[in-house]
Amino acid sequence: MLKAGAQAGETVVDLGSGVGIDCFVAARLVGPTGKVIGVDMTDAMLERAHEFNQEVAAELGYNVVEFRKGVIEQLPVEDNSVDLVISNCVLNLSLHQDVVMKEIHRILRPGGRLVISDIVVDREVAEADRANEQLWAECYTGAIPVNKLVSTYESLGFLGLTQLDESTWEKVAGYHFGSITLRAYKLPSSKVSGCVYGGHAAIYLGPYASVKDEEDHDFVRFTPTEVCDATAARLRMAPYSDNFMVLDLPALAKAAPLSACGCAPGVVCPPAATTATAAPAASTGGCCDNQSSCCA
Ligand SMILES: C[S@@+](CC[C@H](N)C(=O)[O-])C[C@H]1O[C@@H](n2cnc3c(N)ncnc32)[C@H](O)[C@@H]1O
Repeated sequence: MLKAGAQAGETVVDLGSGVGIDCFVAARLVGPTGKVIGVDMTDAMLERAHEFNQEVAAELGYNVVEFRKGVIEQLPVEDNSVDLVISNCVLNLSLHQDVVMKEIHRILRPGGRLVISDIVVDREVAEADRANEQLWAECYTGAIPVNKLVSTYESLGFLGLTQLDESTWEKVAGYHFGSITLRAYKLPSSKVSGCVYGGHAAIYLGPYASVKDEEDHDFVRFTPTEVCDATAARLRMAPYSDNFMVLDLPALAKAAPLSACGCAPGVVCPPAATTATAAPAASTGGCCDNQSSCCA
């Protein structure tokens, strides 16, 4: 839960909240202006969680935790209302993990994120092995391979996937099982909205010589690359914003290459503006602004 990095004032939902431990940690992090919703289908768990919540609220001096009875395949939570979805060791218990992921996407606000720890396996568990008692007892039958998990998230429109943690892997019945924590964001996607080129260039700030993003854009360090509106919006948000500078260049001629400083084609860059850190946005009146003396 601490790795999820809940911030003051955020709304957090915990899927399969059990007796509420992660909800109580989240309550401390979001503070009195935040909100935490635990969803679980088991009455006994919810009863204990309610009892603990009285004690936790008394200790914190505020109560921002609410437990709701429901299934994670049909979350009792409004659309686009949540900053952070967390879950620990629950998704693998669902027979409909793709439905759960769609539900997570529905309740997250644009820019919101999930941080989920779950059991994964090195290859698909064969149908015949699903009856194996040891696998069942250790909650391993529902584990899915990491690459399938990633492609399911990406096919639903989650981007910015990052692995935050990983446990030691264990060999059971010929399979290797482990637990990983993944973070992913609900972000604008050019694959979903299509590409409209409204005049934006992105500069990758390093540290690698070049990177390819999940939508197959190639970025060379310090080199302006024209991007469409959805990609520009995405690169301005976490988790990309620390590594990219996005310039608005309404006059950008689609077919023409950019100047070295990220200015519109034909603009002569002063030497100081040819590095990424020196290249200002057009609207700031810097080297890319036609009113600026350096561009005259
Ligand atoms: C292994 S416990 C994990 C509890 C808690 N997340 C933790 O880390 O302590 C699994 C919890 O998920 C709940 N659960 C399992 N499948 C569920 C589903 N489909 N919908 C809602 N809750 C579910 C169970 O009732 C149980 O409380």
